[in-house]
Amino acid sequence: MSQHHIVVTRRIPEPGLEILRQTGARVTVLQTDEESGVDRGALLAAVADADAVLALLSEKVDREFFAAGGSRLRGVANMAVGYNNIDVPVATELGVPVTNTPGVLTDTTADFTWAMILAVARRIPEAHNYMVDGRYKIWGPNLLVGGDLSPGGSGQRKVLGIVGYGRIGEGVAQRAVGFEMDILAHDPYNKEGIDKDDRVQWAELDELIAKSDFVTLHPPLNAETHHMISEAELRAMKSTAYLINAARGPVVDEKALVVALRERWIAGAALDVYEDEPAMAPGLAELDNAVLLPHIASASIDTRAKMATMAAVNTVAFLRGEPAPNVLNPEVYDTDAYRARG
Ligand code: GLV
Repeated sequence: MSQHHIVVTRRIPEPGLEILRQTGARVTVLQTDEESGVDRGALLAAVADADAVLALLSEKVDREFFAAGGSRLRGVANMAVGYNNIDVPVATELGVPVTNTPGVLTDTTADFTWAMILAVARRIPEAHNYMVDGRYKIWGPNLLVGGDLSPGGSGQRKVLGIVGYGRIGEGVAQRAVGFEMDILAHDPYNKEGIDKDDRVQWAELDELIAKSDFVTLHPPLNAETHHMISEAELRAMKSTAYLINAARGPVVDEKALVVALRERWIAGAALDVYEDEPAMAPGLAELDNAVLLPHIASASIDTRAKMATMAAVNTVAFLRGEPAPNVLNPEVYDTDAYRARG
């Protein structure tokens, strides 16, 4: 395979790069500076000369990208479970298999969702800043009081509302047991899975929103889920409730959320993702009831290494002309457009 050229858009963890190098292919990492994105022109130029591309969610893999790719391009491997950055129908039309990294980041992301829930309800970032700013003078009964997850002082079980009951949503439910929560779940594509799961009770979205003390979002981003949480939903939440988003930013109307948080329609929000990432909606960063994180829900050392490994294994399959393990458009293999490549 030494004649092959693999383009990796940005630096991925070493175990993934090692798998690529072992193929004997030429491996080009376009951007090695962790703080910068790939220049679009450089990306399109590199794709023209690539047999396979290993991309990150920061790259748009759209018609323009595929048009820039030569007839040698045999696959694009995304190092992420979410693939809203890839136009899959166009990839299929043009005969290019595309892959993601499902499963491996479920635990890490579900764990992090709980870190977000705890952080916003118990005001942990605010409390940390209070300490490092030297403001802690004396213990106080009213100091940084927050919301319970467990029945706690009120003795009332809290309601956890999980929107999107795929692998990650289910992982979040599994971890709720210790907090003795009642769990509602909504997912139009997995009603059967929810009905089968004794831990959770199916709810329509409006019922879930109205009843939950914590609304946590785990759907994929698509036309149906875009702005699924907008002004009406935020107004319908309890004023004591929290919103958690570790899915994709555009699932929430971020401008409406800023107003909801500022005017205390809800108690708080924890966000790992943003509508126009890395930018934040004006006013969001000034709020004391928002916990803001830089899209790190799957960022454990082991999980990121495994994601890189999976993406690399998919890339190697493209080069070998074998079905890629995590292909999103398997029907592509039966097309003339695919057969014409390579
Ligand atoms: C991260 O957001 C992913 O989709 O893997």
